Amino acid sequence: MQILTTAAGLQAYTEQARQAGQRVGLVPTMGALHAGHIQLVQVARAECNEVIATIFVNPTQFNNADDFRLYPRVPEADAALLAPAGCTALFVPSVEEMYPRPTVLRFDFGALEQVMEGAHRPGHFNGVATVVSKLFHLARPHRAYFGQKDWQQVAVVKQLVADLSFDLEIVACPTIREADGLAMSSRNRRLDAPARAVAPLLYQVLSAAAAQVQQGVAPTQVQADALAALAEEPSITPEYVEIADAQTLQPLAEYAPGRAVVLCLAAHLGGVRLIDNVVVGG
Ligand code: PAJ
Repeated sequence: MQILTTAAGLQAYTEQARQAGQRVGLVPTMGALHAGHIQLVQVARAECNEVIATIFVNPTQFNNADDFRLYPRVPEADAALLAPAGCTALFVPSVEEMYPRPTVLRFDFGALEQVMEGAHRPGHFNGVATVVSKLFHLARPHRAYFGQKDWQQVAVVKQLVADLSFDLEIVACPTIREADGLAMSSRNRRLDAPARAVAPLLYQVLSAAAAQVQQGVAPTQVQADALAALAEEPSITPEYVEIADAQTLQPLAEYAPGRAVVLCLAAHLGGVRLIDNVVVGG
């Protein structure tokens, strides 16, 4: 596995691969890798000859300085996981390499980012779109791999690709969970033992809510029941629970036949903010 640290090095590497007729897959990450990330690499490896993973804790997408400072950084352990999974090159740039000067371009994803993560983390998707655009321009992959764990991020990135005519395909992969249902996340490393013990409640609540959606219980009732279930655990502070159209991400007043529903939540526990979602129907 080749280690690349400069933008020019990434460009040259992938350009050479394309010239040689190879299919290039890109897996953008912020590191502290787990089985959710590794799945993306494995799927990419099955579909592409070259798999470029990127590890960059992107400062422009953090709206909370502590979250950025405390974000886990374990570069050696990450590299050791990537090579056996089939990653052929790892791009690990510095902040100066990715942002030689401050960016001024601003993205506006309209209704897509006026809900959930976009509403609760101002500027977050602007930072994601900025760094993902840079990576797409530098690597020019045939395919880029993202996780459904960040459902809204996938929607925003697909919009970005469509609006800016990036010549690539976005592949969305399912959420990988711990045995007790907790969605894998780099931030799980920051949970202390009591917080880790209650964390599976997030997925339990989402699963119960998904069952209610399947039974046709009204979205506002499902939302209220989910918030009430979370409130029973005093160490969990919910930020939002939304029952939304899986494509438009707009909160639902009622169900539309044949349209998939996404149930999303964000919650704080033990000083850590976690998100999760479940999709029903479609
Ligand atoms: P990060 O949180 O490191 O996630 C990198 C990719 O792994 C994302 O596409 C995310 O959805 C996926 N992922 C994370 N946990 C997962 C899980 N449990 N199952 C399946 N996929 C999972 O998302 C980001 O980084 C950043 O915003 C990034 C896109 C790299 C831009 O900076």
